[in-house]
Amino acid sequence: MKRVYIETYGCQMNVADTELMFGVLAREGYVRSETPEGADVMLVNTCAVRDNAEQRVIGRVGELQRHKRPGTVLGVVGCMAQRLGPLLLEKVAKVDLVVGPDAYRNLGALIGNAALGHRAADVEFRSWEHYEDVPAVREPGPTRFITVQRGCDYRCTFCIVPYTRGPERSRTLEDVVTEVRSVAAAGASEVTLLGQTVNSWRNAGHDFADLLRAVGSIDGIRRVRFTSPYPTDFTPRVIAAMADTESVCEHVHLPVQSGSNAVLRRMLRRYTREQYLEVVARLRAAMPALTMSTDIIVGFPGETEEQFAETMELVEAAGFDDAYTFKYSVRDGTPAVKLRDRVPDEVASERLDRLISVVRQQARARNQAWVGSEQEVLVERPARRGAMMLGRTRSNHLVLLDLPTDSIGQYHTVRLSGTTGSTFTGAIVLAQLAVL
Ligand code: SAH
Ligand code: F3S
Repeated sequence: MKRVYIETYGCQMNVADTELMFGVLAREGYVRSETPEGADVMLVNTCAVRDNAEQRVIGRVGELQRHKRPGTVLGVVGCMAQRLGPLLLEKVAKVDLVVGPDAYRNLGALIGNAALGHRAADVEFRSWEHYEDVPAVREPGPTRFITVQRGCDYRCTFCIVPYTRGPERSRTLEDVVTEVRSVAAAGASEVTLLGQTVNSWRNAGHDFADLLRAVGSIDGIRRVRFTSPYPTDFTPRVIAAMADTESVCEHVHLPVQSGSNAVLRRMLRRYTREQYLEVVARLRAAMPALTMSTDIIVGFPGETEEQFAETMELVEAAGFDDAYTFKYSVRDGTPAVKLRDRVPDEVASERLDRLISVVRQQARARNQAWVGSEQEVLVERPARRGAMMLGRTRSNHLVLLDLPTDSIGQYHTVRLSGTTGSTFTGAIVLAQLAVL
């Protein structure tokens, strides 16, 4: 029995891609190894969105090299593999394989060759590829990622993703529904639909509204989430489908990137601050209990102190419950490389600190307001520390619960009893059995 170890970095789509790679390799007789020790194949599924993500991978590849024995294959896959291609083979002698996100179907053959000493890179884009015939091999659990769209056709000037994941393509509605039915039959009750601009999903005359309604009405599916939507793709039809479909959860992660129109224009985002806030208002009007999170970049070329201040104000104006904040990282090959007036690192760092402190303060205050309320919680997994279980509300709040491990997959009505600022503690008010 051959054993494969995969380490995953980056976004949820990488997590889903790793499940696909396990699926591709299961067909070739591989079993999953939980550790690099003793594995015949070690793969690092990488992110290229920021330089520090890549530096971490380089460090990790260095460590994994130590587990190499004769015949062991070490591969770098994912977005960084796609970005660097054969160069990675030249630069890192111990790396045998470099495989981009559209080439996972070939992993078995590539690994076989590499084990014989033929190092290779496959970074071809295959704009038809959805791995439709590959059964993903997933960890047991009640929640599942379902990739509905691959690639990206937007061209945000800071972003490497269009160059690492290739052209945008949507899976068919039928294929998505078939996969969701099968994960529901296997016991999952929550799905998260994934795409780079997931609400721009479109196929054979269907739009994302149709997809939400179709997925949302599948037997056994009690919660539907999706990430990440793009602001201007929230059409009235999509918002109506969200509001009408009971299983669609009241939480949206909507990357804004900046609160300044001048910066948004240089980023080639397709909305203004006003239009973004208008989308937020329409979402909240349709779903009054909605919580929102976002992504924000600080220190984009040309960002002035005034423009940064507009981002700080937007955090409050939009009423975000949480935000992922990043310092702009120059990515070779992206249009923003050519922009002048780079922001010095100390300035960007200092802005990031200020932004994080505003985001934290606001998150804490907003979370406090949830304490005392009763929420439906899905028990997802054991918490990292202690003997508690970790559950999630529809609004995407994490709750620690004193429950046994066999409660995973159950839904309970829980009174939120306290918060650390981010995570909640909760007490069961009404125990419910799992839907299945
Ligand atoms: N399509 C996805 C974006 C993927 S990248 C979406 O819209 O959510 C995830 C996040 O990383 C982006 O939203 C952005 O905030 C951040 N990011 C992307 N490129 C970056 C860069 N060059 N520097 C810093 N942050 C970046
Ligand atoms: Fe990147 Fe913009 Fe697409 S952030 S993934 S180019 S929508």
